Amino acid sequence: MKNKSYLKSENLKIFGQGKLNGIVEISGAKNSALVLLAASLLTNERIILENVPRLTDIEKMCNILQNLGVNLKNKNNKFEIDSKNIAIKELPYELVNGLRASFFCIGALLSKFGEAKVPLPGGCNIGSRPIDEHINGLKALGAKINIEDGIVKAKIKRNKDKLRGTHIKLKCPSVGATETLIMAASLAEGRTTIENAAREPEIQDLCQMLNKMGAKIYDSGKEKIIIDGVNKLGGCIHKVIPDRIEAGTFLIAAAATSSSITISPVIPSHLESVTNKLQESGSKIIVKGNSITINPKKLNAVNIKTAPFPGFPTDLQAPFTALMTIANGESIITETIFENRMNHIHLLNKMGANIKLNKNEAYIKGVKKIKGMDLVASDLRSSAALIIAGIIARGSSKIYGLEHLDRGYENFESKLKLLGIKVTREFNKKVFTEREYKIDQDTEEIQKCKAA
Ligand code: UD1
Repeated sequence: MKNKSYLKSENLKIFGQGKLNGIVEISGAKNSALVLLAASLLTNERIILENVPRLTDIEKMCNILQNLGVNLKNKNNKFEIDSKNIAIKELPYELVNGLRASFFCIGALLSKFGEAKVPLPGGCNIGSRPIDEHINGLKALGAKINIEDGIVKAKIKRNKDKLRGTHIKLKCPSVGATETLIMAASLAEGRTTIENAAREPEIQDLCQMLNKMGAKIYDSGKEKIIIDGVNKLGGCIHKVIPDRIEAGTFLIAAAATSSSITISPVIPSHLESVTNKLQESGSKIIVKGNSITINPKKLNAVNIKTAPFPGFPTDLQAPFTALMTIANGESIITETIFENRMNHIHLLNKMGANIKLNKNEAYIKGVKKIKGMDLVASDLRSSAALIIAGIIARGSSKIYGLEHLDRGYENFESKLKLLGIKVTREFNKKVFTEREYKIDQDTEEIQKCKAA
């Protein structure tokens, strides 16, 4: 509790009207690395994961694996994972709390050990985030599942039996459910087909790693994935794909400041929906191998509607909204994936943006300028949006709530500094208790409009 409160008193001080210039190195994808770590539970052999980003979400996942008995070593971004001595199949609530991806371990634990106990997941507070698709799919594969006191208890019906391949049709193309079910099905008996599967690049990354481990997964990246179960999976070396959300955030920051930058390494096809929108709004995009250069010419308003991949990613909706606050004209941003992901809107309005929110639709009239302020972000992607707004704004801003930023952006401020942005992380020596922090939020010093 003390630690958590202390972290909350940190802030990023940003001097506004910044310009970016140069090349920025994109880290490994958080959402890939998290699920690949979970997938390493499926084998008794050593997995070497390269390009793992150093983030607090990753640290949490590593703690969870270690608690299960996994031997984990790392040197910088290279992780060595040895799951042969797993002793327990139960994830403790204290470690799982706040990390939704921890729930994805259920499929791997269940198919390898025949049982798993996993607390209901947390994560960013951006909607109700049910897990019915995970549960229904696991049940269809032959698991018996009870939810008692917030713990999901899963067991293969007949003792020492295996999960059995089946046909699963997801109601919605959930990323997490697709991943859980792929992991569960890879050691099941027979063939599993997942229809209406999510097609996100992180799922393709998972399937590529599992196939290196000896799995038989076909058509990942398509709406219907086929998995032929195998008896066991082996070790492998795998490099995590570049983080398309981090990459998109930097492109948006460049467009917002009329700056030319190059991002690398990236897989340009993973970013097409984003680069198309940036082009439509007036930026020149140059793709060369594994790099993208953006050269903004003007900034016109464009409409965005988030959608599952290959559509516009919900994780870039907040940063793109920050960009549209200063675009020429009017834009409509529609969030279709999560029901509570518009928490940045009233904060942007406080900075001088002109946005009207109707449920999950934001109507933005571009303004000439916004002003720097002290604000508290309360989810991962809204923190990136506020930082972009701080960079655009006149005057300086302090952005609090960095525990969210640190979940998903590796060395964000160092990368911004290298690109020429004046930004510093300030450490407030005062240690707030949770209660004091809340009271302090109401003082004049910080305009705390904590997103839910
Ligand atoms: C993952 C990503 C997150 C991203 C999201 C959508 C990770 C760790 N996180 O989250 O960054 O924003 O994909 O691209 O990879 N749903 C159900 N029932 C379920 C599961 C999901 O109704 O059982 C709904 C959710 O409420 C949501 C939608 O499906 O409205 C998409 O959620 P999902 O794709 O599952 O997101 P996550 O896997 O949690």
